[in-house]
Amino acid sequence: MKAVCCFLFLSLLSIFSYPSSSIPLNNAFAAAITRRHLSTPKETDPPPDDLNCEIETDAHLNFPNPRLKKAYCVLQEWKKVIYSDPENMVSSWEGADVCSYKGVFCEKALDDPNVVTVAGIDLNHGDIAGQLICKLGLLTDLAIFHINSNRFCGIIPESFSKLTILHEFDISNNRFVGPFPDVVLEMPKLKYLDIRFNGFEGGLPSQLFDKDLDAIFLNDNRFSSTIPENIGNSKASVIVFADNDFKGCIPKSIGHMTGLDEVVFANNELTGCIPEELGMLENIKVLDLSNNNFVGTLPNGFERLKSVENIDIGRNQLIGKVVESFCTLPKLLNFTFSKNFFDGLEPKCEKPMKAELFLDDRENCLPKKPNQRTEKKCSPVVNHPIDCKSLGCKRPSRKSDEESVKRKPRQRAPPKPKPPPPPPPVQSPPPPVHSPPPPVFSPPPPVPSPPPPPPSPPPPVFSPPPPPPPVPSPPPPPSYADVDIPEYIGSRYPSPPPPIHPGYN
Ligand SMILES: *[C@@H]1O[C@H](CO)[C@@H](O)[C@H](O)[C@H]1NC(C)=O
Repeated sequence: MKAVCCFLFLSLLSIFSYPSSSIPLNNAFAAAITRRHLSTPKETDPPPDDLNCEIETDAHLNFPNPRLKKAYCVLQEWKKVIYSDPENMVSSWEGADVCSYKGVFCEKALDDPNVVTVAGIDLNHGDIAGQLICKLGLLTDLAIFHINSNRFCGIIPESFSKLTILHEFDISNNRFVGPFPDVVLEMPKLKYLDIRFNGFEGGLPSQLFDKDLDAIFLNDNRFSSTIPENIGNSKASVIVFADNDFKGCIPKSIGHMTGLDEVVFANNELTGCIPEELGMLENIKVLDLSNNNFVGTLPNGFERLKSVENIDIGRNQLIGKVVESFCTLPKLLNFTFSKNFFDGLEPKCEKPMKAELFLDDRENCLPKKPNQRTEKKCSPVVNHPIDCKSLGCKRPSRKSDEESVKRKPRQRAPPKPKPPPPPPPVQSPPPPVHSPPPPVFSPPPPVPSPPPPPPSPPPPVFSPPPPPPPVPSPPPPPSYADVDIPEYIGSRYPSPPPPIHPGYN
């Protein structure tokens, strides 16, 4: 996209250099020419005017202030690369009153309370097909940018690094591709990063975990790297890696993430033993390691997980006994350890300790329990101790037949044009149970294939506050006292969980 920006810059330059009589030369245009001639940019500087928008602004429109004029220009440019808008969101974008545009939200500027400016864009669930443009980087007063559940494609323009007060960036459930969008690393105020359900691939930059983010949603992409060793630097309360192809071990530094509420590694290719450092996550509520290649026995030290409600270690190749330190955790509601090779239960794991606790022990090697694996499947694994140290993070040499066929189907759109999508089957993969926005901040989604939420709730900017989450006594939202964004920007995360887009599963 940098190339495209440069191309625009060059084409503008050539217009400036050779004004033809067919181009109306209004005042703004002339001023831009003068400015350019006065200051020739150095090669090394980023081209200062490649985001210039003045020349496109219709001369006859009146704007309350220059920022809204610029916003008008940017939004009109953006509209030109919207190719489908079935909900008529963008098609309402006409005239000078940009603050009345659907999905565009204005507020007093942070740096000048006398000036109203565009502070939020929320086009969630618009089903819009199009692209992002470089000029969006001109909307430097944006605090939120939500475009979840649309059909935007391409990549995130480099110019988004100019969004220096952006607080929430939600591009989930679109069709973005390419490597991890590094430009988000340059957004100094970013707290909420949601890029799930796209086609990003490759690795994760380690700087992601040095940023002061509160929520990181990476699930349902095509990431295939190891998880950076510095994950433990992150102060996030929610991180979701699910439904990618992450490899290697869970880094031991994860033990430092004592503010972590929810971490989901489900449905990847992770290996090694379950690190005992996970036992240090004393505030964790949801710990999901399911459907990976974890081996060995359960680690010690998990009795410190005093807050955990949900543990899923199902669909791995774990062996040994299911230990009481797990089964007796005080807040535990659901402990799923099915589809492993456990061959024993400590006494307090035989039956749930309390009525609310659900234990799933199916398809293990547990004597006298129903629904277990056959002796033939069990014996090669059960009698094969694992030395976690010498094993390291390698992929195990052997996977049972059953395990190797059960890899999830990809949730991607098929590459070819296809007939109209059939109604989604009931078991069409819904967003993973635990990956929706933090239950702390927004209601958890209905578990089995949620119906699409109603179109675009207004962003928190304009407060009616989001409906109270059905979570008993939610802890106070994180304090953003150090973030100088307007107070009206809710510290709750309003984005509804992205459904898989119709026709996109
Ligand atoms: C327990 O959690 C698993 C996923 O981790 C889920 O499939 C199952 O429905 C849950 N069971 C109950 C009773 O909540």
